[in-house]
Amino acid sequence: MRPLRLHSAAPISISVLLASLAAGQVITWDEAYARAASDLAVLSQDEKVGIVTGVTWEGGPCVGNTYEPTSIPYPSLCLQDGPLSVRFANPVTVFPAGINAGATWDRELIRARGVAMGAESVGLGVHVQLGPVAGALGKIPSAGRNWEGFSNDPYLAGVAMAEAIEGMQSSGVQACAKHYLLNEQEVNRNTISSDPDDRTIHELYLWPFYDAVHANVASVMCSYNKINGTWACEHDALLNGLLKGELGFKGHVLSDWNAQHSTVQSANTGLDMTMPGSDFNTPRGSIFWGENLALAIANGSVPQARLDDMVTRILAAWYLVGQDQGHPEVAFSSWDSGAASVDVTTPEHAELARTIARDSIVLLKNSNASLPLGTPGSLAVIGSDAIVNPAGANACTDRGCNTGTLAQGWGSGTAEYPYLIAPLDAIQEIAATTGTTIVTSTTDDPAAGAAAAAAAETALVFITADSGEGYITVEGHPGDRNNLDPWHNGNALVQAVAATNTPTIVVVHSVGPITLETILAQPNVVAIVWAGIPGQESGHALTDILFGAYAPSGKLPYTIGKSEADYGADWTESQTDPFTEGLFIDYRHFDYYAIEPRYEFGFGLSYTTFNYSALAPAISATPGPTTGETVVGGPADLFAAVGTVTAYVSNTGAVSGAEVAQLYIGFPDSAPPTPPKQLRGFEKLSLEPGQTGTVTFQLTRRDISYWDVGVQKWVVPAGTFEVFVGASSRDVRLTGSFTV
Ligand SMILES: *[C@@H]1O[C@H](CO)[C@@H](O)[C@H](O)[C@H]1NC(C)=O
Ligand SMILES: *[C@@H]1O[C@H](CO)[C@@H](O)[C@H](O)[C@H]1NC(C)=O
Ligand SMILES: *[C@@H]1O[C@H](CO)[C@@H](O)[C@H](O)[C@H]1NC(C)=O
Ligand SMILES: *[C@@H]1O[C@H](CO)[C@@H](O)[C@H](O)[C@H]1NC(C)=O
Repeated sequence: MRPLRLHSAAPISISVLLASLAAGQVITWDEAYARAASDLAVLSQDEKVGIVTGVTWEGGPCVGNTYEPTSIPYPSLCLQDGPLSVRFANPVTVFPAGINAGATWDRELIRARGVAMGAESVGLGVHVQLGPVAGALGKIPSAGRNWEGFSNDPYLAGVAMAEAIEGMQSSGVQACAKHYLLNEQEVNRNTISSDPDDRTIHELYLWPFYDAVHANVASVMCSYNKINGTWACEHDALLNGLLKGELGFKGHVLSDWNAQHSTVQSANTGLDMTMPGSDFNTPRGSIFWGENLALAIANGSVPQARLDDMVTRILAAWYLVGQDQGHPEVAFSSWDSGAASVDVTTPEHAELARTIARDSIVLLKNSNASLPLGTPGSLAVIGSDAIVNPAGANACTDRGCNTGTLAQGWGSGTAEYPYLIAPLDAIQEIAATTGTTIVTSTTDDPAAGAAAAAAAETALVFITADSGEGYITVEGHPGDRNNLDPWHNGNALVQAVAATNTPTIVVVHSVGPITLETILAQPNVVAIVWAGIPGQESGHALTDILFGAYAPSGKLPYTIGKSEADYGADWTESQTDPFTEGLFIDYRHFDYYAIEPRYEFGFGLSYTTFNYSALAPAISATPGPTTGETVVGGPADLFAAVGTVTAYVSNTGAVSGAEVAQLYIGFPDSAPPTPPKQLRGFEKLSLEPGQTGTVTFQLTRRDISYWDVGVQKWVVPAGTFEVFVGASSRDVRLTGSFTV
């Protein structure tokens, strides 16, 4: 076997990217508000209305554009998708999706991805980049847009939101945290009412938005759905109450595209900008603001102060990220091939895309150390997912097909590939240096796959599961997936290949969990690799792991259950979702109901092993009295450190690798029914063989609080908290406790 050549130091590009953070302009919200106030004094009423109103769909180069005032040097704002790149523009770097970024559990990488995406957006003249995503949070494993976000765990999602936002905004683009709130499925997304209880809202769905707001996110997008029967974009309790009140959000709320349903109510309940300003019909209808907003102010239905507040928030966000200082002109058109007049891509961005894709790969099974491959004499590469769509990587609009290798989901959260390295491309690059014979079957035909496998020492089978935004249906899946099976009869393909007695390695490109029971029942399936939807560097990232240049270090950002029913949450065709599962989603559900998952949240194997030791010396948590002060992000106390948990992790194997040490907390019995374990810390450590590292988890007050519905506050329950530190949500290596 070829010796492993494992790297542990972060690639240069990441430190270079992060160094640019230091150069970012930093002004406070107060300073930004002061500048906005000066502008407000000179703006006419028409100009103010124009600043809060989109110019209608396809009315400007970006997916959203506002009217440009003449009395201040403020532009027609350019708002552009999306959460993994700049949609429609070309060339851009297509980064791994949010779910892959989440699977790295690597704060630096998530931040660097934000820095790089932000830089490309700014280079193209974008002012507001429509991401990152924490809603859908992902309570429904088959929901169409879960992959745009980082994880269905609110803690992991929240950390990732903050890192992404700070990274993006340090490059000078306004980040837009979306979709606010409770847009958990695609089917009926424009009509369904999401009705969770108050505690569930705070502890799950709102949680990552606290982090987003605390990270000074410039804008928030309200979602398509209703909450308790009221549209999210005209919901007083949601916008004025939770977001601008409880969370102290100082930026602007913009509507999802055509999610506004009224002139007066949306204005009075907290919406600040309407996008795209009209519906999508020809000719455009449903123009709720523009002239109609001016009329509503004139007839007294909307206070003048509300319009002034909208404008102040929008201008302040623009100042906050320094867009008054030489922000470039828009350099592409969404409606005209997207060809950009500048090339914003860099080799460092491509390298970063590869690094994130590689470090997000989760090794699920690896019998008898079948991986890494070393130098096989021959290798069968099987499945349509091994090659680029023969019609071209960008053949389907908004990636609305599952043909060829899957490296993005579909919908508005996608971008045009500048190139796409498919698995077979990268495998052939390696085979050329190792002399490995490659046998291919690049369809999903089981008989052809079996024939290829029979002619090789080892078989690699590629299977997929895709999903996306509900305006496109792909192979009968209406955005949300109809089930958690692999597409294109992937189970039959794996069965046929494994039946040849060739050791079979399954590579899964998927937007989220698929059930693996049929595949695991094949004795010749020796390894399973989840590679997610890895973006343009897909193949290179995969071969980095398969051939052992790097040890896998991704961990599942969701649970893989034995059956779809085990999750206890599925999308509904009903017009209301009562969210009866409450707090118990994903691993919280599996743990609470004692359901054995197949691969638990936080799980992932390496090519080395790690040992955990010496929790303590003393775990302390000493929450003092609350001050009642609200900062941007919520009550100041929530973010205050109350204690630390420290442990040591050693690399006890033969090769370098990285481990994600995870901290889970169990609440005392004095709290109302709470999930047995909740993630409250994680740290990724790169360790050489024999090396020991220290992990220190900082607990904040929020981490040990629950939302008390009665008093309408976060409360630390009295009693003894359990502490679990380990390699996953179920692979607990160290336990302890503390009492408050
Ligand atoms: C919706 O109603 C439920 C049940 O009355 C309540 O707990 C929750 O706070 C309401 N949600 C919002 C956003 O007002
Ligand atoms: C005021 O004007 C707005 C916009 O035209 C309209 O929607 C609203 O019904 C009007 N209200 C009253 C009380 O006239
Ligand atoms: C692993 O190796 C053992 C011992 O050589 C063998 O009995 C077993 O079948 C192997 N398992 C797989 C899945 O190949
Ligand atoms: C692992 O850590 C434990 C302490 O938790 C220690 O007793 C043991 O010797 C360690 N094992 C190895 C292989 O380092």
